[in-house]
Amino acid sequence: MIENRIDQLKKETDTLLLAHFYEESDIQGVADHIGDSLKLAQWGQKSKASRILMAGVVFMAESIKILSPEKTVLVPDLNAGCSLVDHSPYDKYLEWRKAHPTGICITYINSSAAVKSISDVICTSSNAEKIVNAIPKDRPILFGPDKNLGRYLSKKSGRDFILWPGACEVHVLFSAKKLFTLKKEHPDAVVIAHPECMEEVLQYADVIGSTSRLLQEVEKNPAKKFIVATEDGILHNMREMRPDATILQAPAEGSCACNQCPYMKLNNLEKIEKAISNKTPEITLDESLRLKALVSLQRMMDITDGRAVSWPDKFEA
Ligand code: 13P
Ligand code: SF4
Repeated sequence: MIENRIDQLKKETDTLLLAHFYEESDIQGVADHIGDSLKLAQWGQKSKASRILMAGVVFMAESIKILSPEKTVLVPDLNAGCSLVDHSPYDKYLEWRKAHPTGICITYINSSAAVKSISDVICTSSNAEKIVNAIPKDRPILFGPDKNLGRYLSKKSGRDFILWPGACEVHVLFSAKKLFTLKKEHPDAVVIAHPECMEEVLQYADVIGSTSRLLQEVEKNPAKKFIVATEDGILHNMREMRPDATILQAPAEGSCACNQCPYMKLNNLEKIEKAISNKTPEITLDESLRLKALVSLQRMMDITDGRAVSWPDKFEA
């Protein structure tokens, strides 16, 4: 069985296998840890294993490599990108930063290492509010590349943000109109949504949070019905956690299966077995780029763990 071979290979090669909640259940089944973007970065950094295989998307693996250059970081498929990375090309992001030199730039972890290298601090959806609250009140805030998460945070914090116009191609496809109808049909359901959804969808949500926050809600909330507006890989975790509850997926526009992330779904057990056994594809980063990207990522880790940080007075490329 392929699962047994992967387990054996992990032991033989000292590999830690991490998986995101959006991966298929067979991949989650062979993982040592399953988590959200922040947890995956923390586990990757803390692990004593010499190799990490990241079953998620490439920016997650890059984050581990930025934090732990001594480790070999592998991915099942180098094409597992992210639309937010595609929506934030380095040259354009640099121009945007230069146009607002006194602003502090918070960049969502769903970004390339190059974009991280010209950012002041990184955030994930689970620590974003903490990061915003750490920015001095007299400094303008630039937020990219997810405008929906940025708009949500701006509203929550009561601060004006200069937003980069990127979005997640999966989360923008949830339909506010259909969600409204579904909510009316199920008035007892708790609506939970990822902040990458559009504002029109988020207005109907009872709880907005990262993938781990949404799972926690399903675990702790005694309600018997949930409508979930995020990628569908996480639904099986919710159903396993709460077999007594009905878990409904929020409806997408049209009749497509478009609430699946096409990048996360590029991974499979065969590619995982091959990656561990052949030690490729491997994430490699230019060292000067890595060191620049480390500054913003380390600031995120410091703020998350309650350590004090300092900020540059202005942006210098
Ligand atoms: P989380 O950090 O909430 O796991 O989200 C990652 C992601 O890519 C959501 O689309
Ligand atoms: Fe990127 Fe969206 Fe896929 Fe998350 S769901 S990895 S934001 S494309």
